[in-house]
Amino acid sequence: MQLTELGSLPPLNDIPEKMYAQVLRANRYGPPIRAYQMEVVDVPAIADDEVLIGVKAAGLNFNSVWASTGYPMDMIELMHLRKESSDDFMIAGSDCSGIVYKIGRKVTRVKVGDEIVVQAGWYDMEEPFLKNGGDPCFAKSGRAWGYETSWGSFAQFCKVKEVQCLPKPPNISWDEAAVYMLSGATVYRMLFKYPPHVVMPGDVVMIWGGAGGLGSMAIQMVKMAGGIPLAIVNSKDKEAFCKSMGALVINRSDFSHWGALKPGSLMPDTQEIWRNEAKIFFKKVLELTGKRLPRIVLEHPGENTMPTSLYVCDKEGMVVTCAGTTGYLATFDVRYLWLQRKRIQGSHFANNVDCEELNQLVIDGKIKPVLAETVHLSELPQALQKMYDNTHKGNTAIRIGY
Ligand SMILES: NC(=O)c1ccc[n+]([C@@H]2O[C@H](COP(=O)([O-])OP(=O)(O)OC[C@H]3O[C@@H](n4cnc5c(N)ncnc54)[C@H](OP(=O)(O)O)[C@@H]3O)[C@@H](O)[C@H]2O)c1
Repeated sequence: MQLTELGSLPPLNDIPEKMYAQVLRANRYGPPIRAYQMEVVDVPAIADDEVLIGVKAAGLNFNSVWASTGYPMDMIELMHLRKESSDDFMIAGSDCSGIVYKIGRKVTRVKVGDEIVVQAGWYDMEEPFLKNGGDPCFAKSGRAWGYETSWGSFAQFCKVKEVQCLPKPPNISWDEAAVYMLSGATVYRMLFKYPPHVVMPGDVVMIWGGAGGLGSMAIQMVKMAGGIPLAIVNSKDKEAFCKSMGALVINRSDFSHWGALKPGSLMPDTQEIWRNEAKIFFKKVLELTGKRLPRIVLEHPGENTMPTSLYVCDKEGMVVTCAGTTGYLATFDVRYLWLQRKRIQGSHFANNVDCEELNQLVIDGKIKPVLAETVHLSELPQALQKMYDNTHKGNTAIRIGY
């Protein structure tokens, strides 16, 4: 078979030579609306430790926005420099549900026909560090699949390492199965894998971007652990969305102290200017939570919010961060860090055990994918543009193979 039409997958024993894919090329880098274009490309060949997946649905993540702009990294060029790809294009996409179509010679954990979800941790299990039991989060060979690799999920077929395949929870749809793993596992590690700062009953957890991919997962996980989620958002409809999920909510548009601290702004005669503004936010937090400060702050906007995150975090609490969406200049008044013995913790995705634990929570119905919208592969550029423009809520599934 040459090519299958979108909206279906071919018989398992009839893999086509070509496939439809939303493709990125360096000469189109820019906003997603123009960077992503549908093309027909070869179905990828797989190595001995790889698996070919027929994609039922893909999920959108912010890294596909970064990939489209070529900033802060030109990912196609980076893969060339690392000698990990010679392709002059890439297919992004770090979340996927689908069916196993082909397995490499060394693959033992999955078989053709299995229904799976993909976790985005791509690593070479032959790496000595991993063979000796090292945490895959710190593997030298570790890559974010569909961002640092070429054959992600925005296509009819994608290729993954065996370790990335997890069973699809039977209780959810293909679209739902495509939208929780990357953001869910990232948040799961941030909230439960940095002891003693794991969410305990009664803990207030402040969540930036409560209506976003990470935020909507974080609200559920904090509630699951008996904590009190405090979501920060920028609009009335996102306020309603987070409240409907059971979070306390603050609209950040009502405050004005955002952005990096400036040199000199913490001198004895100037420090009150920023602090007086930040105190209004601080008091709003106390008012909503019954006078309790967040023991954990889930950070990812970075430059715009870091001074506030560290300021409102409770004594001996933790600000845990996985991104700098608004900029990388993370400033704060260091006195709050040392005098109040706070912790700043970096976190990057999750390991295979974290992903398996999250998957089990979804199978058990304790965590539910937050699917806000489903679109077809042809509409992917518009859907990602909404993410770029920060006008989306929850998660978007891209329906491809059904
Ligand atoms: N390191 C990792 O492993 C990892 C994994 C997943 C995601 N990430 C990164 O984490 C970031 C968020 O991902 P996501 O999937 O949650 O994206 P998302 O769905 O776009 O959500 C991001 C949220 O950030 C908030 N935001 C935007 N501008 C802001 C500003 N100026 N100040 C405060 N908040 C702002 C928005 O909420 P409001 O505008 O409503 O406030 C938005 O809902 C991205 O940079 C992504 O690449 C990292």
